[in-house]
Amino acid sequence: MKGTEQQEASVLWAGRLSEKPGREAFAFQASIGVDKVLAQDDIRGSRAHVAMLGRQGIITSETASALDAELERIAGELESGSLVIDEDAEDIHSFIEGILTSRLGDEGRMVHAGRSRNDQVALDVRLYLKRTLPHLCAVLTQAINTLLELAEKHSGAVMPGYTHLQRAQPLTLGHHLCAWACGLERDLGRFEDALKRLDQCPLGSGALAGSSLPLDRNSVALSLGFPEPTLNAMDSVADRDFALELAAAAAITMTHLSRFCEDLVIWASEEFKFITMADAWSTGSSIMPQKKNPDFAELVRGKAGRTGGNLMTLLVLLKGLPYAYDKDLQEDKEALFDSLDTVSQCLGIFSGMMKQLEFNTGRMEAALEGGFLEATDAAEYLVRKGLPFRRAHEAVALIVRDCIAAGQRGIASRSLAELKSRSPLFEADLYEAIKPASCVAARSLPGGPAPSEVKRQIAVLRGKLARR
Ligand code: ARG
Repeated sequence: MKGTEQQEASVLWAGRLSEKPGREAFAFQASIGVDKVLAQDDIRGSRAHVAMLGRQGIITSETASALDAELERIAGELESGSLVIDEDAEDIHSFIEGILTSRLGDEGRMVHAGRSRNDQVALDVRLYLKRTLPHLCAVLTQAINTLLELAEKHSGAVMPGYTHLQRAQPLTLGHHLCAWACGLERDLGRFEDALKRLDQCPLGSGALAGSSLPLDRNSVALSLGFPEPTLNAMDSVADRDFALELAAAAAITMTHLSRFCEDLVIWASEEFKFITMADAWSTGSSIMPQKKNPDFAELVRGKAGRTGGNLMTLLVLLKGLPYAYDKDLQEDKEALFDSLDTVSQCLGIFSGMMKQLEFNTGRMEAALEGGFLEATDAAEYLVRKGLPFRRAHEAVALIVRDCIAAGQRGIASRSLAELKSRSPLFEADLYEAIKPASCVAARSLPGGPAPSEVKRQIAVLRGKLARR
């Protein structure tokens, strides 16, 4: 069959119209460039549909077998590459039905009984998501595990913690990495949650109102691995809230990765030097011979923009659409697939980069000097001795001012007599209490940065992953 003939066969709605759209207009409304990735899902759906049509006596069992065998053959040919998807077709559904019809004649024309491309595309996308999301969840789990391994290794490494990017209180590197892992673990939950909600079979919803044919929606759903069919035909073809949920989960995950990468970019700067990026995860400059740039981290940060944009695209796309199906919905796939591809790719890059970077824990520890990060601990020392916190805060603030005036870089530079002039409650044991390791060890409350508590947090997160 020639290309043009095949295209004739695959335009499913030509009968009603006296004129065809011109080539450019046809290409404008086509979606094959995006929905071709649904080819195998489309065939799977069609095979379940024809088997049911046969069981229900809507087509003969011979026809059902012939259609099934041909669909299986088409799937194999697409897989092997002996059949190439025609990029001039309207969409993947039209293309496959067109091939079927070109090969089987009237038997091929029976495949679409009781079905519309509206429920077909809703099904195909769900099958695609059920098939591909486990991979995304696996790379997300790998990223969490990578962070937890590093957190475990560095559970006792002290570093400055920041608020407003100003040195705030001593932390452990393990605590920082665990904070990142917590965010990603919730992201994993968001994907899993969306996956649970989309796990219903829309086939049998037809264009919007089901079918007058005696379809068996339950058996189709079960044969395709769904626990049940969707409840309402209109909802099934009109709504794309599953796409919104997944695009939101992707955008949130990317926002997390973007912030982690921002930390990495700052840490890799000469001024911080908390980390050294592996050469394999860095790039150079075409003009400045000395440069080693954290491009990978920057690009992950940059790609968060597209996923935020995709979520916005989908929200605006759906807002104001009259129920049920509108062609606008065809635009959903490009945004959704791009977001899911982007987040999978970036998670892989992020894990690879993290595994190979070097933490300069000595630099981190040294950065605890000079920022008065021990000030809160000094104030809490006074609270333990009975001073109201506001008074303790004021006494330590004055000590910090004394230090700055004297060109001293830490509270421990003050003599006990000088400290006592600000509060008589200070004793010699203060000096031990405000050492970074003591500050961190004392913060062993649930959620805190103490090494023992970080280890507990790691165990809790690992437990959550193991129970999935
Ligand atoms: N390519 C279309 C889409 O992705 C398939 C459904 C077409 N339905 C229609 N009534 N034009 O949405």
